[in-house]
Amino acid sequence: MHKKVDIGVLVSGSGSNLQSLINHIESGKLDAEIKIVVSNNPDAYALERCRNHHIPFSVIEHRQYASREEFDRRLIDALNSVGTELVVMAGFMRILSSEFFKAFPLRIMNIHPALLPAFPGTHVQKKALDYGVKFSGCTVHFAEEGVDTGPIIIQSAVPVYDDDSDDTLAERILREEHRIYPQAIQFYAEGRLKIDGRRVLIIDNPGPSDSVLHNPPLERF
Ligand code: GAR
Repeated sequence: MHKKVDIGVLVSGSGSNLQSLINHIESGKLDAEIKIVVSNNPDAYALERCRNHHIPFSVIEHRQYASREEFDRRLIDALNSVGTELVVMAGFMRILSSEFFKAFPLRIMNIHPALLPAFPGTHVQKKALDYGVKFSGCTVHFAEEGVDTGPIIIQSAVPVYDDDSDDTLAERILREEHRIYPQAIQFYAEGRLKIDGRRVLIIDNPGPSDSVLHNPPLERF
């Protein structure tokens, strides 16, 4: 039996990924404890979710700090004060400084609503539609300095349909985010993530059973 991983979750908005983590912890599937949720946005709905589930939270407004580094130092202190082992960025819309990454080396995860390295940044569902890709999806990765970079832990691919809007695609992707983030954190809790350069290997994972997808489906070939 492995021990629970103590996580600190960074949010800025709705917090549906946070909710998914809470649900999986409460149902006993995810061996983690949320020690603190930190939001840079006082109006984030994610904070309401914390109140509903009696999860400690702290609001650290970036606007109140003169520099990125000062803001990041407050984040680091808040996370360390409760013994955070793993930092989980769940819709956190601030770029972090190198000081932050040094404070938690390979102990920061991020989720991004695209198949990285395609479409980093913001408004990525629209960018995927505009580009005309046939698949998009989501990625959980260890965060490194830089925007949406770092060794990839798990990805989920979803098809893009001809009649998709940004919203319908985002919704399809979000459903998968809510599955792969708990899984990535559970791998971490079980000590099964082995980082080998840019690659993250999952110890004792059987690998994909059906590894080829087509969109549109092949008809004659
Ligand atoms: C999610 O789609 C997440 O992947 C994205 O913000 C959304 C937050 O939703 N994050 C990024 O774009 C970071 N680059 P949530 O607040 O409902 O979890």
